[in-house]
Amino acid sequence: DAALRVHAQARGKFIGTALATSPLANETAYRNIAAGEFNQITAENAMKWSDTEPNDNQYTFSGADQIVNFATANNQQVHGHTLVWHNQTPGWVQGLSATNMRAAMNEHIATVVGRYANNPTVVSWDVVNEVFEENGSFRSSFWYNTLGSGFIADAFRAARAADPDARLCINDYNVEGINAKSTAMYNLVSQLRSQNVPVDCVGFQSHLSTQYGFPNDLQQNLQRFANLGVQVRITELDVRIQGSRTSAKDTQQATYYTNVVNACLAVTACAGVTIWGFTDKYSWVPDTFPGEGFALIYDNNYSQKPSYTAVHNALDNG
Ligand code: G3I
Repeated sequence: DAALRVHAQARGKFIGTALATSPLANETAYRNIAAGEFNQITAENAMKWSDTEPNDNQYTFSGADQIVNFATANNQQVHGHTLVWHNQTPGWVQGLSATNMRAAMNEHIATVVGRYANNPTVVSWDVVNEVFEENGSFRSSFWYNTLGSGFIADAFRAARAADPDARLCINDYNVEGINAKSTAMYNLVSQLRSQNVPVDCVGFQSHLSTQYGFPNDLQQNLQRFANLGVQVRITELDVRIQGSRTSAKDTQQATYYTNVVNACLAVTACAGVTIWGFTDKYSWVPDTFPGEGFALIYDNNYSQKPSYTAVHNALDNG
């Protein structure tokens, strides 16, 4: 049957995956699935600050370009991830004074976004990532603690200046359901837009776990953001399970995938769904949550799992 990207395109949505540079360079099976099944790509790590500007004003775009060139060759779009984050940002940034940190941020955004501004493959960016705590207050990061919340508007304005045509997103996790964190995000996006700060899009990472249940108000939550006039998207979907696979756990996981795809399909302003990788072989989950894993749609040997069928069938008939 047809690939995921064929069905997604027919529904007017993207189906994306995050890619890692090493297997992309070294494994044919990885490359073939990445090329064949998806029409949108996010660099899992290669566009982050520590990869692109490890030292002040010394840029390395080899990984980022590898991802972008692969996408171009396979008629895929790239979603840039991520410009301003508290993780994977070098120590030299974190120790700067407010004046110098603001300048470094603006310069980094101008350089990274500017590099791809005239490249039609790169269409959107996560401008700021994970700026909230779970209770909805601003995250106590070096960005916030040095610059206050104004760094968020500054970052969006710098990105717009660097590429007036790119779609600019704010992205976070645990904002899939209606809760304190997603409501803080909602209020921020509403406020920024009323101040003409160029926020075009909200990304819902969707790192789900069968342990915590499905956010059944996902569609309603996406819709309330859409009603602010922004595009919404699922940006980093995975569904981790506890322990080893069983057919019951596979089935439950598949249901979560179905529900996420259906929620996006039901919301006109939802542009698509990106899965955070595709093979369990390279998922971030076991490194971060020991004893959990098997979160993706292909197993360690590149065989399709029930979760693949779930995504496929939801895009086909959902
Ligand atoms: O590249 C180095 C390698 O040289 C070194 O030998 C090795 C030893 O630890 O580390 C390698 O870097 C790792 C990097 O992934 C590339 O594999 C880092 O340790 C590791 O921390 C890093 O993890 C990434 C994580 O972000 C870091 O925060 C994951 O791959 C990536 O999937 C994950 O993605 C994030 C999103 O960007 C934002 N949302 C949450 C999501 C999951 O945490």
